[in-house]
Amino acid sequence: MKCRTCRGPAIIELPRHNANFCAEHFLQMCRRQVEKAIHDHDMIKKTDRVLVAVSGGKDSLAVWDMLVELGYQADGLYVALGIGEYSEESREYTERFAAERNLKLTVVSLRDDYGYDIPTATKVTGRVPCSACGMSKRHLFDKAAVDGGYDVVVTGHNLDDEAAVLFGNALRWDVEYLARQLPVLPSRHGFPKKVKPLIRLTEREMAAWCVIRGIDYIVEECPMAEGNRHIGYKEVLNVLEEKSPGTKASYYLGFLDRMAPVLASIAATGADSVTPCVQCGAPTGGEEGSVCAFCRLVERSAAHEPVSVELVRKKSRSQKRVQAEASKK
Ligand code: AMP
Ligand code: FES
Ligand code: ZN
Ligand code: ZN
Repeated sequence: MKCRTCRGPAIIELPRHNANFCAEHFLQMCRRQVEKAIHDHDMIKKTDRVLVAVSGGKDSLAVWDMLVELGYQADGLYVALGIGEYSEESREYTERFAAERNLKLTVVSLRDDYGYDIPTATKVTGRVPCSACGMSKRHLFDKAAVDGGYDVVVTGHNLDDEAAVLFGNALRWDVEYLARQLPVLPSRHGFPKKVKPLIRLTEREMAAWCVIRGIDYIVEECPMAEGNRHIGYKEVLNVLEEKSPGTKASYYLGFLDRMAPVLASIAATGADSVTPCVQCGAPTGGEEGSVCAFCRLVERSAAHEPVSVELVRKKSRSQKRVQAEASKK
């Protein structure tokens, strides 16, 4: 197996590029894909102050590493979600990464700073964990970016993530979500710009980046995301990818090239007016004098006694069993 670029011994095979690479040229290929995504979608300017949302997983640590390498001024933000050992460990990986490279990392803790955590919020809302989790993260990313004077927020969403979300949206023909599924969200109504520079790279490639660069990351998935629909969509796309390498990239990148422009007029019809939340000042789509969804979640969850991860998982497993039994009848 020889490297496509230097003909030296290759360490990774990439069927979707019909090529193999040595470590050095694999890293070069990854950098070029990130630079291309940033350039094609006008994601980040060299003078921008960048805030990278880091979870301690491979993707967000890799994107932070790449942006710093490429010369961007990139600081990190970690949100401690209070999901038991999983959160404690992922925080340790993130803090170690930042300390070893002398990078600036801000940590926001749901429990210490807001008086709740994701297991408790899940119990209170009665929804899937990712619902309270996603909303809390979005709010805190926006707030940290605005308070810290950052120009753009970066997340580690990769090609597998985006293709899976696209697949779900297309299965439901959720046209509004499809229209907004772009790798750049411009800054609007007081919300910061948000970008996804890893859309041209896969999960496997990001794991390889971390191994080659000596980055330790949390391998376990979030214990509360068990049974999440996107995991199923990823599995389906992986089967297709195996049969026909390159399918995932042509599906998602082809959507951006050829379908997203067709949907542009729908994307433009979002909420036109926002008002500041009367409690925290964050922009909200509600009427004048209203309280944002995040503040409402904090109020309800902080008043509830703390709930353990295990309790929420047990409940969701038994709910699934009931649903499975009901669907048999
Ligand atoms: P997920 O929603 O877990 O797939 O994560 C998507 C992206 O959100 C990650 O690549 C990170 O950029 C960011 N992210 C997820 N969890 C956290 C966290 N606890 N703190 C900061 N950023 C996070
Ligand atoms: Fe959000 Fe698991 S990381 S529910
Ligand atoms: Zn090579
Ligand atoms: Zn608020």
